[in-house]
Amino acid sequence: MCGIVGVVGNTNATDILIQGLEKLEYRGYDSAGIFVAGDASSQLVKAVGRIAELAAKTEGVEGTAGIGHTRWATHGKPTEDNAHPHRSETERFVLVHNGVIENYLEIKEEYLSGHHFKGQTDTEIAVHLIGKFVEEDGLSTIESFKKALRIIRGSYAFALMDSEDASTIYVSKNKSPLLIGLGDGYNMVCSDAMAMIRETNQYMEIHDQELVIVKADSVEVQDYDGNVKERDSYTAELDLSDIGKGTYPYYMLKEIDEQPTVMRKLIQAYTDDKGQVTVDAKIIKAVQEADRIYILAAGTSYHAGFASKKMLEELTDTPVELGISSEWGYGMPLLSKKPLFVFISQSGETADSRQVLVKANELGIPSLTVTNVPGSTLSREADHTMLLHAGPEIAVASTKAYTAQIATLAFLAKAVGEANGNEKAKAFDLVHELSLVAQSIESTLSEKEVIDEKVAALLSETRNAFYIGRGQDYYVAMEASLKLKEISYIQCEGFAAGELKHGTIALIEDGTPVIALLSDPVLASHTRGNIQEVVARGAKVLTIAEENVAKEGDDIVLNNVHPYLSPISMVVPTQLIAYFATLHRGLDIDKPRNLAKSVTVE
Ligand code: G6P
Repeated sequence: MCGIVGVVGNTNATDILIQGLEKLEYRGYDSAGIFVAGDASSQLVKAVGRIAELAAKTEGVEGTAGIGHTRWATHGKPTEDNAHPHRSETERFVLVHNGVIENYLEIKEEYLSGHHFKGQTDTEIAVHLIGKFVEEDGLSTIESFKKALRIIRGSYAFALMDSEDASTIYVSKNKSPLLIGLGDGYNMVCSDAMAMIRETNQYMEIHDQELVIVKADSVEVQDYDGNVKERDSYTAELDLSDIGKGTYPYYMLKEIDEQPTVMRKLIQAYTDDKGQVTVDAKIIKAVQEADRIYILAAGTSYHAGFASKKMLEELTDTPVELGISSEWGYGMPLLSKKPLFVFISQSGETADSRQVLVKANELGIPSLTVTNVPGSTLSREADHTMLLHAGPEIAVASTKAYTAQIATLAFLAKAVGEANGNEKAKAFDLVHELSLVAQSIESTLSEKEVIDEKVAALLSETRNAFYIGRGQDYYVAMEASLKLKEISYIQCEGFAAGELKHGTIALIEDGTPVIALLSDPVLASHTRGNIQEVVARGAKVLTIAEENVAKEGDDIVLNNVHPYLSPISMVVPTQLIAYFATLHRGLDIDKPRNLAKSVTVE
């Protein structure tokens, strides 16, 4: 979702901005633009569609400073007029913005009568406001920016330039992510470290409601009252090769293939020298003190919460409740007396989840964030963090983060259970079991061609499909169907197999694809009964079964793994199904339409 990049003090400004925007593509966008300024001139270039289209229009555009933006439309359609950067009435001030300004219509009415707007965005109103205070009221740029920031309500990351002064970028944030990158003789700003990793691995955080004055050789952080704040820089542990595709045609396939390695990395991260599971004692204590765990998340991360629920409950002896962040932000249910909120978020930036965390912090509810991104907003603002160690996930469709989330929560469940003397936890040899999971994934990955053929036969033409399963398999079915629909656009639903006959079976007709998941010895025979029900109505069924429940004729058979971890191994063929179904339909696997990787608006 909207990405920002800026650079000051570098003669390659255009190139840096375009490359930075390419690195932000994964976040999701539908138009883009850059503003580049030099000593004598400045230029604004925008394009609807991919960065490649923008890049094609920037030949000959040169300067030493600039700001760029990828826009994921919220206010107004994806057109060039609505694409950022936006300019003030006299076109002197130029602004890019990520977030949503709640009171933009009030601002327009109260301050900007007589102004001319090119598009419908809230951002254009913000830059007109800043411009007005300089151009009509005579304030300095910085005073004007501060005055506007006091008026603006909502979420924002802003990067502002004065086209008459290429030496400075002014930035500010509230709720939306933004970082400073420190280069050698130049400095940068951007929405995430990945956009700048080619230039620098030295970063500086910006906190909410701070204003930062970025010049080629200095970075000054202030609060809105002008008090200067000291801020240390830090080194990001990102590797340029982590964010490349290598020889892979798509990031999604690379990330699916990385899953066995991620499982092994997690074993390293959460075991000590003696191979014993180790989790921060403060986190264990936080779970022990809770009478209920509330998992809050969105999308795939929400599904990972479901897949971990049984394991967490059985090993920690604590009930687990799931909440959709966007629902809880506006209405929390009656909570237990000693709740612990666990936020699962690949990016650590999801605005819906952050909204709940802000409320939890106001209420004094202890919190843990399980995330892939150290230093992300949800990590910084929660009491505790557990990292996924999955490496950057670039494809919009989340794969390795989902499996890493379940595995990370397995370490938490095991560590708490052991500390509590829970018998099941003591008997659960997680390190060994997770190694078996890594092997099982490897053997599934070696069957790609077989899976591809089956997918071609089943999903090339269809408009809809169903995943069914019971127990943990139902939870995997939810994730499997999300994966399929988000990238292939096949309308797909994940159903509790036994629930299908209570309504949805009406949708089954000749040739409807139904994919059945079977891992649980007790439940598999019941799911097989449900398979017969859909076959009798013409469904084309594909079965994915673990060895212990497999029967002759099953399409994809997986190694046995520990039942707590079966969602990790079971989801992998469904990720490949989504991948191949999308490939056969000739769609952009990594950048599906309308979706954003990092959803930083509510
Ligand atoms: C977006 C992405 C999903 C992701 C969800 C939650 O909708 O497209 O793939 O699962 O956000 O993101 P998070 O970073 O909080 O896990």
